[in-house]
Amino acid sequence: MYPAIAIDGPAASGKSTVARLIAQKLQYTFINTGAMYRAVTWYLLQRGINPQDTAAVVAALPGIPLSFGKDGSVSTVVCEGRTLTDELKGQEVNGLVSTVAAIPEVRALLVRKQREYNESEPVVMEGRDIGTVVFPDTPFKYFVTASEEVRAARRAAEGITDSIAERDKKDTQRAASPLAQAPDARLVDTSDMSIDEVVACIADDIRA
Ligand code: CDP
Repeated sequence: MYPAIAIDGPAASGKSTVARLIAQKLQYTFINTGAMYRAVTWYLLQRGINPQDTAAVVAALPGIPLSFGKDGSVSTVVCEGRTLTDELKGQEVNGLVSTVAAIPEVRALLVRKQREYNESEPVVMEGRDIGTVVFPDTPFKYFVTASEEVRAARRAAEGITDSIAERDKKDTQRAASPLAQAPDARLVDTSDMSIDEVVACIADDIRA
């Protein structure tokens, strides 16, 4: 098994862009685990299953027809032959994904899929619990963050209405695998850094 590069952090910290660029630089596969939690949430909403009804979500899990693929070096989420993209970014999904992600059975299912990726190829994996739960033994762990103001401004600049403060609170306070910096992760505060600087900082650290 290859050592995974684990990149965790709160919403709109810049970690997705950074993780994607680092994967490109290293020629690793980029995996956005948030897309997986979003896909489960989207599917439940499509089927009229209330994401707040934990028992109904758990009952639906084995029948969810999601599969995880790749487009070039980027992981994708596929539902019944259709690659999901914009569907995952809607306001309804933004508002409910943290509730779905707090369900231990959902996490167990997705963590298993995430580990499977790394069995066959090296990955840069981005999420909330990659360094703490998914790959606790990897030596390459980064916790990418930025001040709340900077993160809110970045999200607003993308034109997305998303209550990131509320989502971060739910992600940090949940019992199952909360958003947390692993004790051995390197903290990267991107508030005053350009994307290129962040990528260089992490890439240099990996090579060192
Ligand atoms: O793009 P952004 O950083 O705003 O969020 P995301 O990475 O797409 O993740 C969406 C949501 O999925 C998060 O707010 C968490 O509730 C959940 N998530 C998680 O619980 N664990 C992960 N490894 C990744 C995402």
